[in-house]
Amino acid sequence: MQADRLILSATGDWAERAQLLRQIGARARLTKVPSRAQVVLLATDAEELPADTVASVREHTQAPILLLAAKGSPRLIEEAIRADVADVLLMPQEADAIVFAAEKALRSASVQDDRSERGRVITVFSPKGGTGKSVTASNMAAALNTRGLRTLLLDLDVQFGDAAIILGLEPERTLHDVVVAPGALDAEKLTAFATVHASGLHVLPAPLCPEDAELISGEKIGEVLATAEAAYDAVVVDTPPFFAEQVLAALDHTDELVLVLAPDVPTLKNARLALQTLELLSFPDERIRVVLNRTSPRIGFGASDVAHVLDRGVDFELPEDPVVPIGVNRGIPAVLHRPSSAYAAGIDELACRVVQGVPSPAPAPRSRRLPFARLAR
Ligand SMILES: Nc1ncnc2c1ncn2[C@@H]1O[C@H](COP(=O)(O)OP(=O)(O)O)[C@@H](O)[C@H]1O
Ligand SMILES: [Mg+2]
Repeated sequence: MQADRLILSATGDWAERAQLLRQIGARARLTKVPSRAQVVLLATDAEELPADTVASVREHTQAPILLLAAKGSPRLIEEAIRADVADVLLMPQEADAIVFAAEKALRSASVQDDRSERGRVITVFSPKGGTGKSVTASNMAAALNTRGLRTLLLDLDVQFGDAAIILGLEPERTLHDVVVAPGALDAEKLTAFATVHASGLHVLPAPLCPEDAELISGEKIGEVLATAEAAYDAVVVDTPPFFAEQVLAALDHTDELVLVLAPDVPTLKNARLALQTLELLSFPDERIRVVLNRTSPRIGFGASDVAHVLDRGVDFELPEDPVVPIGVNRGIPAVLHRPSSAYAAGIDELACRVVQGVPSPAPAPRSRRLPFARLAR
C-alpha cells in the first residue's frame, strides 16, 4: 500500500540525520520535492526559528511544517507559534513519534480545509417579536436558493415558528422528528427530513405543537447545525425573540448574525440589551449585521437615529413594502412573488453580502439630534 503512505520531505540539519531518515522512510514516503510532500519536516539546532528556511519552504508548498528542534528555547517555541509551523517536536525522537506527529499535523490541516468549505450559517435574530425576523430569514433563504446555493432554512422558533407557513408549506416532518430520530445524524438523513419547497429550498420547520419543542435541546441543535454546515452551502436560521438555549447553540455555529430591528423605541431598547448580551457571550462584533427593517420616510426616523441610540452604525436597511404582507398571506416569499420589488432587491443584496462575508460599508454619519432622549445614556 505504498501509495497510501504519508509523503514527507525533510530539510535542515539534525544529529544522525541519515539513520533517522532511513527509519522514517520505512514508515512513510520521503520525497526530495517539497511541493509533493504532505508534511514538511524542518530540523534545526538553533535557538531561534530558521525563518528563511520556513519562507523558502512556503515558496514551494502550503503543506504543514513540523519543526524538529534540538533546543526547546522559549524564543523558538514562541516564534514557531507565530510563524506558520503546525507543531514542534523536541529532538531526539523515535521515527515512529515523528511520523505520528506528521500524521496529526496533516489531519488537523485537513479539518481546517474542510471548515473553509463548510456552508455559511446566517442567524436572523431580534430581541423583539414582530420586527420581521421570519420574513427576513425566509426571503434571504429563498434568495440564496435562487442564486444556486444549496440552502436550508432552519426554524429555531421552536414553539411558535412560522417559517413553513410563510413559505406556504404543510410539512410532514419537522425539527422535532430530526431530534427524536434514532441513530447518529448525517447529511443524508438530515436532507431526507427537510421539506422541499417548490423553488428547491430545503426547510426544517419548527414542531407543529409547542409541547414538542421540549425535546429540542441546545445540544441537539449543535448536532443539527454541524451536520447542516457540511450538507448545505448556506443555512439560514430563524429564531424566537429571546436568547433561548437553541439560539445560544446556534450562535456557536453562526458566521453572520443578522440583527433585525424595527424603527420603534421598544425594539431599540431591547436591541441595546441584546448587543450587550452578545458582547458578554463573546460573540464577535464583526459578525453582527444590524439591519433596520421597515424603513419609510413616513415614519420620521431612520438609520442615523437608530445609530445614535445604539452607538453603532446600521449596516443595512430594508424598506417597508406592501409586497411583504401580501407574500406572507399568500404563502409566497416576496423575493419569489415580486422579484422586481424594492424589498426583494434589498433582501438579495443583503443575502449576497452575508453569505460572502462582505463587510458592510462604513455607516452613515450619526445624527446630532437626540431622537430618543429616554434611551440616551
Ligand atoms: N419590510 C417589511 N415591509 C412590510 N411589512 C413587513 C416588513 N417586514 C415585516 N413585515 C410584516 O411584519 C409581520 C411580522 O413579521 P415576522 O417576520 O413574522 O416577524 P418576527 O418573526 O420578527 O416576529 C409580517 O407578517 C409582515 O407582514
Ligand atoms: Mg418569527
